[in-house]
Amino acid sequence: MLTPKSTLITRQEIQSRVHEMAKEISRAHRDDDLMVISVLKGAVIFASDLVRHLTMPLSMDFVAVESYGQSTESSGIVKITRDTEADFTGRHVLLVEDIVDTGLTLRYLLQHLSGKKPASLEVAVLLDKASRRQVQVPVTYRGFEIPDAFVVGYGLDYAGRYRNLPDIMVVAEED
Ligand code: IMP
Repeated sequence: MLTPKSTLITRQEIQSRVHEMAKEISRAHRDDDLMVISVLKGAVIFASDLVRHLTMPLSMDFVAVESYGQSTESSGIVKITRDTEADFTGRHVLLVEDIVDTGLTLRYLLQHLSGKKPASLEVAVLLDKASRRQVQVPVTYRGFEIPDAFVVGYGLDYAGRYRNLPDIMVVAEED
């Protein structure tokens, strides 16, 4: 049984980095009517904090993908279980994701969303396990690069739990 053991990124570090990312996005999209698409369920807490620091007019939509289930390893099979509802025509889209690991989920989502013909499509990711990448994906805004460890908290789960932890923590076997 894996449980949260050590803090990797504190709530204060998260808040300050999310604020910085939002400033960068606000500068880049000052005059754009932005559409923020967050990936359910993991990115919801990150997206909620991020949008409250964004200064341009924006709307929000959601996409849900099949998660890891009980395991900490990706099956490599990605499936959309809830699609966006908004019309993408002429919209600048920011896809908000909690973590990029192998890159398979993000690659699939980017292919899917670009088929809806947005004016532009960028990606904001809070955590990047760069050493685990199997496919290259364009990450426009990145919060933290982290080592190859399974993390929970701030929206991220293990078997559906621990999303509510305010810090990002590494899981390990219970003693
Ligand atoms: P990828 O397709 O391998 O890049 O995996 C991306 C998805 O895997 C994320 O959206 C998360 O749902 C999940 N994931 C990857 N690493 C972790 C982790 O350390 N903790 C929790 N979820 C993770």
